[in-house]
Amino acid sequence: MKILVIGSGGREHSIVWKLAQSNVVDKIYCAPGNAGIAEIAECVEVESKDLTSLLDFVKYEWIDLTIVGPEEPLAQGIVDIFQKEGRKIIGPTKAGAQIESSKVFAKDFMKRNKIPTAEYKVFTSYTHAEEYIRLKGFPIVIKADGLAAGKGVFVCHTYEDATEALRLIMKEKIFGPAGEKVLVEECLQGKEVSYLVFTDGKTIVPMVTSKDHKRLLDNDEGPNTGGMGTFSPNPIITPELEKEILEKIIKPTIKGLKKEGIVYRGILYAGLMIVNEKPYVLEFNCRFGDPETQVILPRLETDLLDIFMAMAEQKLHKVEVKWKKDVSLCVILASNGYPGKYKKGIPIQGLEMIKGLNDIIIFHAGTKYDDEGRIVTNGGRVLGLTAIGKDLKEARQKVYSAIELIHFEGMHYRKDIGLIS
Ligand code: AMP
Ligand code: GLY
Repeated sequence: MKILVIGSGGREHSIVWKLAQSNVVDKIYCAPGNAGIAEIAECVEVESKDLTSLLDFVKYEWIDLTIVGPEEPLAQGIVDIFQKEGRKIIGPTKAGAQIESSKVFAKDFMKRNKIPTAEYKVFTSYTHAEEYIRLKGFPIVIKADGLAAGKGVFVCHTYEDATEALRLIMKEKIFGPAGEKVLVEECLQGKEVSYLVFTDGKTIVPMVTSKDHKRLLDNDEGPNTGGMGTFSPNPIITPELEKEILEKIIKPTIKGLKKEGIVYRGILYAGLMIVNEKPYVLEFNCRFGDPETQVILPRLETDLLDIFMAMAEQKLHKVEVKWKKDVSLCVILASNGYPGKYKKGIPIQGLEMIKGLNDIIIFHAGTKYDDEGRIVTNGGRVLGLTAIGKDLKEARQKVYSAIELIHFEGMHYRKDIGLIS
């Protein structure tokens, strides 16, 4: 079979890496991919938002199945377009992707369907939002409605922080139309969990749990990022809590969407806050997490292609999905300045040395080959190092010793992945 994976991050590298182990896969293409993906797949120079060229490519190369990594093409309606042309593709339709592409849609949907989430109010006027914030007090959370590359959420501890966030979104319009509506949310205090499932719209198959570390700096300080490291499983999830997540959140979401005319097929990712042992939804994503996928897929025993094909054919109930008992941990190596501005094109040293190490998987994110054939930085999050171990301590020790071998100017990473839950 010929497969196309869309995207260029560590998430897509881990999807390609897992698919490359399948006996049924003959060839994998990745659009646009990165320097690491290029070692195991053929990278195609088409951007993930260029839906017309992607469809042309799929037709021309007789691709059997397309897997969409990032949210933007899903929000643009790539699944609707491909399905209309009779092409197999993994992901929700444009209507389903709204669960991520509009936070206002997601919150109103949760309210209608009694899915536990933080209290909120929606504003289009700065003055009204400011009045409400003064009334509510702090901490308080301010979110841009639309997609903002993981940067549209501000957890504000003071009036100054909050009005600055409102100013950036509503007056400076730093997220453009994504900030036309603003959500002001109650700040939940608890522990975060990433809970992802495969679904074909009928059957739900949970993945192993994980924990992301969204803040840039150790001890969960600094600004929010796309994610600086992950581990799996997330030890705070007990079997009882998992049952509650499935019964109170995941199942009602799939059922509620169906009731509203949306058959949700693809990956559903619930970002949860556990408060007093009860789960609340912080956000939904309509795709795999990054860097959650870098710890989830290394624990998957089942052939990923079997799962995807079953999802595409609505036969997910027929696949037995098995996971390894081991623990996995991933640490992200980022460019100096991320999640703000950063330099690109900095040579990366030590990659060859890591290749020889047992139990270490290196997932590339923002990397590319330069004109001299060197692998250089090409994004904010540059690499993710994942290790499997019998426990968190062992996985941590493996990853952090491997990091010592890697270097690029300005390399930043958190030292506490796996130490805090
Ligand atoms: P989101 O993209 O909505 O998941 O938000 C990104 C991060 O902001 C989350 O992972 C949390 O750390 C934080 N966050 C979002 N919403 C809330 C909330 N209502 N209460 C506390 N923290 C939140
Ligand atoms: N790691 C968070 C996300 O993928 O949205």
